[in-house]
Amino acid sequence: MRINVVPPCLVTIMSTLFTKRKSLERMAKNELLLYSRLTNSAKPRLSKTGDLTEPEHTVMKKTFTLAHLSDFHLSSLEKKVKVQDLLNKRIFGYLKWQLRRRSEHKPEVLEALLCDLQMTKPDHIVVTGDLTHLALPAEFQEAKKILLSMGAPRKVTVIPGNHDAYVKTDWNSTFRLWTDYMASDQPRPSGQMDSDSHKIFPTLRIRDFVALVGLNSARPSGVFLAVGSVGKLQLHELEKILAETGQRQLFRIVLIHHPPLPGMISWRKRLTDDEALGIILKRQGVELVLHGHAHRDSQGHFDTTVGQARTMGVSSASAPGRTRKRRARYHIYRLKKDPHGWEMIVSVRCYSPPSETFAEESETHFVLPRPTA
Ligand SMILES: [Fe+2]
Ligand SMILES: [Fe+2]
Repeated sequence: MRINVVPPCLVTIMSTLFTKRKSLERMAKNELLLYSRLTNSAKPRLSKTGDLTEPEHTVMKKTFTLAHLSDFHLSSLEKKVKVQDLLNKRIFGYLKWQLRRRSEHKPEVLEALLCDLQMTKPDHIVVTGDLTHLALPAEFQEAKKILLSMGAPRKVTVIPGNHDAYVKTDWNSTFRLWTDYMASDQPRPSGQMDSDSHKIFPTLRIRDFVALVGLNSARPSGVFLAVGSVGKLQLHELEKILAETGQRQLFRIVLIHHPPLPGMISWRKRLTDDEALGIILKRQGVELVLHGHAHRDSQGHFDTTVGQARTMGVSSASAPGRTRKRRARYHIYRLKKDPHGWEMIVSVRCYSPPSETFAEESETHFVLPRPTA
């Protein structure tokens, strides 16, 4: 029978290694605990690429800056377009583009806006639809390039507009390209990542103290119509999201392409279930609703059960503008907690044709109420 005797020096080495391992484990545990406390009990998570990412919304900052732009109307119609792609409602959009719209939307204006964003450096960017003109796959690809130039999906949030759903399209060659820019932080129980753009909405993305709630009002409509609707399923889920985020005292921003309330736009371009949406916004409360679609700046307010909410519409991001009113603009929101509620400073940046650059046009201060927990 053989007895293996471990040499004393090896015992010392193994004991040292064991002690060091225990000490390293303790340090790692402490660091994780500290990290967890610092980040308000949220845990680091793996990104889709497998990288460990810090949950961005948990690092509290004093001021959060958000850029709002909309309605690029990128078109591939200046290049080659297949006749078979136009054998539906698109033929009317094509004719309209050739007659009028091609002079209303210029890629160089959008390029100037993207340059300006490099200087204003917002924490986050939201794009409220109509990135494309006729929902052609080539336009979706072009829009994806623009989104990538603006930043990573965690920095940019997109919702569709009626032109992105101009006709019924194949998901894989269109909206799938934008999914990372549209999806919620966490899958929603309503069926996230389904093969239908309607089913991934409403979306919820939380950045610092801001809850970005994305709605999809885009759907194909009749030839001379540009209407949209949210639908019962999205409204049902929206009510729950607004209640949850209100309880957490987050600054709730609803993103929707169509102006949200009755009377804000012509009958031909309206949201058909605006009354039902208004009831939920007023009942659960919301701080801000951002929209596009009208291609002009607008602002309004309405009363909710927790105080007054603001609506803000933004001009097209690519319009040189026949008149100053129709000129390209984007908005920068500076948000922070105020002893009396939320402080919101809105800076409007407008395109200047002579200099081909964007510059500040106005700055407005608002104080909005904060819901009590
Ligand atoms: Fe538009
Ligand atoms: Fe639109």
